[in-house]
Amino acid sequence: MKDATPQTIRLADYAPYPFTLDAVALTFRLAPKATRVVAEIRMTPRQPGAALALDGEHLRLISAAIDGQSLSAEDYILTDTGLTIHPAALPDAAFTLATEVEIAPEGNTALQGLYMSRGMYCTQCEAQGFRRITFYPDRPDVMARFTVRVEADLPVLLSNGNPTASGPGWAEWVDPWPKPAYLFALVAGDLVAHSGNFTTMSGRKVALNIWVRRGDEDRCGFALGALQRAMKWDEDAYGREYDLDIFNIVAVDDFNMGAMENKGLNIFNAKLVLASPDTTTDGEYERIEGVIAHEYFHNWTGNRITCRDWFQLCLKEGLTVFRDQQFTSDMRSGPVKRIEDVLTLRARQFREDQGPLAHAVRPESYVEINNFYTATVYEKGAEVIGMLRRLVGDAGYRRALDLYFDRHDGQAATIEDWLAVFADATGRDLGQFKRWYSDAGTPRLRVEEHWQDGTYTLEFTQVTPPTPGQPEKAPRVIPIAVGLLSPNGDEVVPTQVLEMTEARQRFSFSGLAVRPVPSLLRGFSAPVVLERDATAAERAFLLAHDTDPFNRWEAGRSLAREALCAMVAGAAPEPEHIDAVGRLIRDGAADPAFRALCLRLPGEEEIATALFERGTVPDPDAIHAARGRLAAALAQKHEAVLSEIHDAMAVPGPYAPDAGPAGKRALRLAALALLSRIDGGRRAQALFDTAPNMTETLGALACLIEAGQADAALAGFRARWSADRLVMDKWFMVQLAHADPANAPALAARLASDPAFEWKNPNRFRALMGGFAANHAGFHHPSGAGYSFYADWLIKLDPVNPQMAARMSTAFETWPRYDAARQALAQAALARIEALPGLSRDMGEMVARLAKANR
Ligand code: BES
Ligand code: ZN
Repeated sequence: MKDATPQTIRLADYAPYPFTLDAVALTFRLAPKATRVVAEIRMTPRQPGAALALDGEHLRLISAAIDGQSLSAEDYILTDTGLTIHPAALPDAAFTLATEVEIAPEGNTALQGLYMSRGMYCTQCEAQGFRRITFYPDRPDVMARFTVRVEADLPVLLSNGNPTASGPGWAEWVDPWPKPAYLFALVAGDLVAHSGNFTTMSGRKVALNIWVRRGDEDRCGFALGALQRAMKWDEDAYGREYDLDIFNIVAVDDFNMGAMENKGLNIFNAKLVLASPDTTTDGEYERIEGVIAHEYFHNWTGNRITCRDWFQLCLKEGLTVFRDQQFTSDMRSGPVKRIEDVLTLRARQFREDQGPLAHAVRPESYVEINNFYTATVYEKGAEVIGMLRRLVGDAGYRRALDLYFDRHDGQAATIEDWLAVFADATGRDLGQFKRWYSDAGTPRLRVEEHWQDGTYTLEFTQVTPPTPGQPEKAPRVIPIAVGLLSPNGDEVVPTQVLEMTEARQRFSFSGLAVRPVPSLLRGFSAPVVLERDATAAERAFLLAHDTDPFNRWEAGRSLAREALCAMVAGAAPEPEHIDAVGRLIRDGAADPAFRALCLRLPGEEEIATALFERGTVPDPDAIHAARGRLAAALAQKHEAVLSEIHDAMAVPGPYAPDAGPAGKRALRLAALALLSRIDGGRRAQALFDTAPNMTETLGALACLIEAGQADAALAGFRARWSADRLVMDKWFMVQLAHADPANAPALAARLASDPAFEWKNPNRFRALMGGFAANHAGFHHPSGAGYSFYADWLIKLDPVNPQMAARMSTAFETWPRYDAARQALAQAALARIEALPGLSRDMGEMVARLAKANR
């Protein structure tokens, strides 16, 4: 399994494949221990004299022939990573390569390639899983038309494209669209469909199916509706319609990621399909809708136009995340969605940029590409597109996208191609903008203000801290959306976008009667850290008066963050903050979802990040204590109104997952979280006992855990839901994420030895380990018990599922922030992993990167 010397792959080394693939025909004879795969690949040489190099791993070669002629031993070289056929054995013109291999899906615990999940066959081929299915040029720039025949004694046999013929025990599928191998998919099992249809804008009727295990069919309605909404939205917003007769989605219990956009046959982690009010929270409903949309949108941004090589990953992922964010913001509340996205960006991407794993949106080298499906590629990749759109305007963006689809349909494209359509459609020079793709690190944007004779000047300075391999960086183009308010709360200068291109730059506004209060970086117009010395009073003013909803929230957030940072150092709660919160929650005109976001305190991780940014070593226990004190102070001061809100935000009637009622429940639970700090969990227990849906059940349970009153509730929850895998994941997750940090490592160890901890199931592993890592002070327990527990499990998982183990290792990425004692303990845990014989390439790359402190 392990390569002796893991190779570094470099963007600079790209070379086109020397053959074109004219057609691919695959036959699968499925059997758990010995599946046979017959591949017939029609190809044409493009460079005379080139060898034919095919990728292949964990394959047993049965036979290989060219144009019907069996290859002899001297015609090829077979290694454990591939099959290379000598040029002398190849015809000069088009030929057919036929191979047969044997694979063992049942023993495939890595869940890449063809594997089994509780009796059903399924595949995951992105990024490089197809090479575990058959010998093939497993690279995204090799596109081909596939026909597939599946043979198995199972009722449902699916693959990409349109179904063409079937009989008992077999089915044939033809995908008319050329595609790279990573979009191949096959599913076989005893499944049932929840079906519907969609008529495209040109009048074609498409059959839609959500395939699930028997018994789950009544939890598919929401996913089907989400798919229909996504299909319509892509027609309306981007003019893109679906291009096959059928669209299948399959829910799988064992899946490393969230979901996968295989052409015409999306495969989903069951937790992102199945939904019912009893088992699914509001947040999960929103996520399901967003992920269904995301994978559907890939049909154009990823499938019809794919990536030339894996360095271009953000070309499809950044763009598709941007599109799914636009979709959710149209389906629900735009401002609320923007705040949620910025919270995610800061929690995951800023954190990544600050630590040893920092890398560019388009990296220049990798060892294992699966390690680069990161917050930087995804979330920052989406932010970069948002900036482009702001710079060229809505109309320019639409023209550029039309040109992109026109020019590159059917191709494997690059970031250069992407930027060229913007340059050509809008006439803009994007040379400097390209640095957003090549330079890692989050720019710090400092601002100073000058006021003289009616002229107000903003002076910005940008600095990007060093990141691994990039000690210095040139200034970037930063779109800074700005508005100015007069001290009475009126907006005197409406939003305009300043384009910063220099390291230091001034922008002036003249003809003002009074010195204004600036509202900077409205809508979070660039992924930067804004540094501005503002008083608590000024932040409270913006929280009350800013016309930009994002910046209203941001003002409240920074007020809370500043207050918390001071409290960690021993200060009392900031009265300005306490009062501002009081005014906000009384503002009945504001959207409940927005008020809920404003009421939620910054998490401990966010406080740690903020402290580190200002040069303080964060103390996790002090942060935990300070946050608890502030929550209690807020509850004490505002108990009456919080209690009123808690009661008023009960939503009567049948459950609906829409933004309106979900916002009310969010506000209700935000109030409850504060009240539970002072009522001993009384209200949380009452809600837990009567909650009519999972959102409120789980919210109340979290409050009970925080209050140390959850023993009975946890036992009852388990008894009720022990047969439901997805709900039991929540049971593991919630009690660790909210546990008393002092006991969290011991609790984690106890839960890990619970018979229900099926650790080979990715969702269950993520629930327990992810829940524990989300307990900031618990994971960073001063004894080091958290680090060593976590490392033990990464070591155990690595040989079974290296992709998962490597992804979970990012819990360690913040170690350089902490005190010397914690640093030493975390480094020792990492060193223990690194020293392991037979460590996977995935994990080997991660621990090597993690071990290096950034600064
Ligand atoms: N193409 C990815 C799935 C994928 C990720 C395959 C990593 C191989 C390695 C898919 O489109 C995706 O991005 N899925 C996300 C969810 C999405 C809404 C951001 C995921 O699985 O987390
Ligand atoms: Zn994606």
